[in-house]
Amino acid sequence: MEKVVALTKRRGFIFPSSEIYGGVSGFYDYGPYGVAMKRAIRDLWWRHMVELRDDVVGLESTLIMPSAVWAASGHLTNFVDPLRQCLGTCKKRWRADHIKGDRCPECGGPLDEPRMFNLMFKTHVGPVEDTSSEVYLRPETAQGMFVDFKNVINSTRVRVPFGIAQQGKAFRNEITPGNFVFRVREFELMEMEFFVKPSEDDQWFHYWREERLRWYVEDLGLSKDRLRYYDHPKESLSHYSKQTTDIEYEFPFGWGELEGVADRTDFDLRVHQERSKVDLTYLDPETNERYLPWVIEPAVSVERIFITLLVDAYDEDVVNNEPRVVLHLHPNVAPVQVAVVPLSKKEDLIKVARDVQVLLQGYFRVEYDQTGGNIGRRYRRQDEIGTPFCVTIDFDTLNDKAVTIRQRDSTKQERIAVSELADRLRQLVDAPDLD
Ligand code: GAP
Repeated sequence: MEKVVALTKRRGFIFPSSEIYGGVSGFYDYGPYGVAMKRAIRDLWWRHMVELRDDVVGLESTLIMPSAVWAASGHLTNFVDPLRQCLGTCKKRWRADHIKGDRCPECGGPLDEPRMFNLMFKTHVGPVEDTSSEVYLRPETAQGMFVDFKNVINSTRVRVPFGIAQQGKAFRNEITPGNFVFRVREFELMEMEFFVKPSEDDQWFHYWREERLRWYVEDLGLSKDRLRYYDHPKESLSHYSKQTTDIEYEFPFGWGELEGVADRTDFDLRVHQERSKVDLTYLDPETNERYLPWVIEPAVSVERIFITLLVDAYDEDVVNNEPRVVLHLHPNVAPVQVAVVPLSKKEDLIKVARDVQVLLQGYFRVEYDQTGGNIGRRYRRQDEIGTPFCVTIDFDTLNDKAVTIRQRDSTKQERIAVSELADRLRQLVDAPDLD
């Protein structure tokens, strides 16, 4: 984990937020490669969950929502963690359910009695700070989908079973943020609420559990043997859930939740209907039956996927008798998919390399790498940020109009005509030969 953290800083993936002022715990900024990778993850999820399906539509609701929403959803009373503070020298705060005994794990001092701490960030709308102007930064995007349920039904042609998907920032005032970006206070959620007939929840719950695990293995290239299901026991379920399965990953610090798939029943639509007094039932056009749909929800943050991908991809090996650090990232999520590398700074070579760059930019995330250093050094630099393919332009290119594709994992090289380059790379991106 330390090596992954060092690499992300060294190569501009992640920086602590406001670092020149000492940083703020649980907040991170994303540098050039980090933001490219985050966007790739987000786009891939959207493509898979929305664009490639005709039973899911998208939504973008606000980050700030009124107290009434959180009162109805149960977050005002139930979105709490038990907190204990050290009364000894360090004064640290702990999640009571994460520690054993009555002594501070840091300094051994006594701990106060556990008390409940609400994780939502509160603020006010308008100039007057009283209870009537209280609003909250959303701790999940899901409530946007429930409060807009009627709008979506009335303005589109969706029919149960169907889903509403949303990506966007969520905020949780975590007591103990940690494990780098695994648990942070500001993160980007990707959630999909799939509305089904009340009697069909089990069947869809199982469908989405399997579908989501398949996505991690096939589209993101995560190691199958480091993924498992964890079924929550009844007593640890969230207040809205009938059944929840986490897709867990084996991190260096142990098994941890990557994504949660929850059967939220009709809890959310029911409570919003009761509080708002707006009819949120769905009229089945075929049977004329009226009911509140049940909801299956797969939910994951970009940050969790990000850290999982990095941990899974990190490797140190030896190539041509030289040690290298390499990220075996799936080309779908690599911040740079193709590096264009001219062998020398000679003008005619650079001109061809720039043409190749422009050609490939139409299809891939491309970096042009003309920096000093021999070709081996440039390959290793690309290996370290996970670039799956380097395209090298050499002196022969000027005569034979061909270039060399060098693969990151096998270091295999192949010569190919520039006219066939984009097609060949497309093939390699879609069916990579991952180590
Ligand atoms: N709407 C359901 C919901 O929010 P959750 O299990 O609390 O469920 C869903 O969160 C997902 O969000 C988790 O599986 C994890 O991927 C991510 N997540 C939760 N808290 C996080 C945090 N503090 N930092 C980063 N990601 C987090």
